[in-house]
Amino acid sequence: MKKILIGLSIVTALGLSANDVMSANMKSMRDGLVEIQDGFLYNNKDGVLKGIAKIEEANKMFHDKESVAKYLPANKERLSSVALLSSKHLNSNLLEMKEYINQNQLLEASSVHSDVVRNCTRCHAIIRGW
Ligand code: HEC
Repeated sequence: MKKILIGLSIVTALGLSANDVMSANMKSMRDGLVEIQDGFLYNNKDGVLKGIAKIEEANKMFHDKESVAKYLPANKERLSSVALLSSKHLNSNLLEMKEYINQNQLLEASSVHSDVVRNCTRCHAIIRGW
């Protein structure tokens, strides 16, 4: 029985589709964004840093054109390099935010928040044909 259960859970683990992985990573990005926003609202620097780390980790799923292309609609695959750019910009926004926080320049750090959201939306706009 135990063996069957272990077998089943391995199958379930391997059965994770690209969509499940994407969904989990995007939930992480969303959670990270909320943590960043709450961090600024509640004056909690650690919360902001945790949110940044969460988004950085999830954003690793987009490391080259191919890793982006598989999520693009068939007629939009040529836009994979543009979509990849939004992921790269997102990383540099997060780095910038972290740097400002480390220098205790919270107002500057919080103004990067809108750039972060813009780069989330840029990629979504391509994918969703907005
Ligand atoms: C390089 C592309 C890209 C970037 C950058 C990106 N996303 Fe996404 N996101 C996707 C894809 C692909 C989907 C799935 C298709 C869809 O929902 O239209 C998605 C969907 C989502 C969803 C819905 C997930 C679901 O299960 O329906 C959320 C929430 C989300 N993203 C949050 C974010 C946040 C927050 C950021 C920025 C911090 C972000 N995304 C940045 C590509 C991206």
